[in-house]
Amino acid sequence: MGFGTIINLALVALVAFLAGPISHFVHITGFFLTPNSTVLGEGQGPIYIEDTIHCEDVHHYRPANLLFTACEDDKSTRFSWFPPLASLLPLKAQGSIHVVDPKTMKSTRLAFENFQGPFVTHGIDVIEDPEQSDAVYIYAVNHMPNPAHFEAGEPKDIPKAQSQIELFHHTINSNSIRHVRSISHPLIKTPNDIYAISPVSFYVTNDHFYRDGPMRLIEDVWRPAKWSDIIHVQIADSSKDGPIEASVALTGLWNNNGLGHGRTDKEVVISSAMGGEIFLATRHESNHSISIDTSIAFASSLADNPSYYDDPYRTDSHDASGYLVAGVSQAIHLLANAKDPNALDAVQVWYTTLNSNGVWEKKVLFEDDGSRIRTASAAVLVPIEPKDGKKLAWLFVTGFMSESMVALQVEL
Ligand SMILES: *[C@@H]1O[C@H](CO)[C@@H](O)[C@H](O)[C@H]1NC(C)=O
Repeated sequence: MGFGTIINLALVALVAFLAGPISHFVHITGFFLTPNSTVLGEGQGPIYIEDTIHCEDVHHYRPANLLFTACEDDKSTRFSWFPPLASLLPLKAQGSIHVVDPKTMKSTRLAFENFQGPFVTHGIDVIEDPEQSDAVYIYAVNHMPNPAHFEAGEPKDIPKAQSQIELFHHTINSNSIRHVRSISHPLIKTPNDIYAISPVSFYVTNDHFYRDGPMRLIEDVWRPAKWSDIIHVQIADSSKDGPIEASVALTGLWNNNGLGHGRTDKEVVISSAMGGEIFLATRHESNHSISIDTSIAFASSLADNPSYYDDPYRTDSHDASGYLVAGVSQAIHLLANAKDPNALDAVQVWYTTLNSNGVWEKKVLFEDDGSRIRTASAAVLVPIEPKDGKKLAWLFVTGFMSESMVALQVEL
């Protein structure tokens, strides 16, 4: 642990103490948590998906039964350059989009047809091409280093990162992906995750107000620091350089982070990472704003990218549809571990369903000390046809600093 880290932790503790009530901070950061690694039975895995290095997000695209993820592909990149953890060294790395087939458990790295620049991956979203049903559009956050900052001798007032969104197009079952365009706007500052509506309209979260420095740390630990926001982006037309309009769709959440699609076309699932909770919200077509309907708190881990599982085998007596959220359960070590390729970061995957009394039942679906999956940041369920009255599913968990995505069988 370096001197800088000790100062950081002291500052974190001080801010948490001043901010009171300290219990929330202690639970979310896992100060006293002992990871209770889930024991898996025969045939339950874990299956490590080869060539899925440091993939922050994963989506299950149901129409084709395929998973999409964006990966760094290189074990060294994240530890030197990852603006979301305030790791900011210049770098020219190119991650990629992968397709994982849940039937073969194999990953295919899609070749870029026309994209050369740096690609530092984070959140993505995948939607059907409205004009070609066997193709998808993929939006992906790209934390590019800002050339202006480095060319000007790294002055403080020019941001180090020039984070933007890339839009790609991919024909299902092909091995390549085409870059459609890059999207940047002054309101897109610290992008984290995306909720796609169409090839010309989407939402993006800014997870922090401050890009680095002590104020960013205060934002992490101080509950009243509700400075993050969600931006709606509208592209005028689908040409390569159609003009971009952006507006604030929602503000006032603490450290809003991941976005997911929910039960209906209008539902948006939003996570507050440090808050350890998710919000179920409605998007309004007329003015693009988002309003919060309810929240569900998990209380013992960070809440990273949320996903909704729609149970295709639901019956009147058992509907396993619910929300999943993955997160680091001992965030207190995250800063110290952020530059260590061999550190373990414990994780939990939470699952919540609405019972017949209208109460959100919550359980830890999977927990690990970081040796099977580190820094979990997204999880999705892929259904298995029920047998002998048992409802099973493959749970895929991925992490932004984990050597590979992992699949394990769970009973719902
Ligand atoms: C946007 O529209 C919705 C429904 O039409 C309305 O409830 C909401 O107040 C509007 N929000 C803003 C910020 O105008």
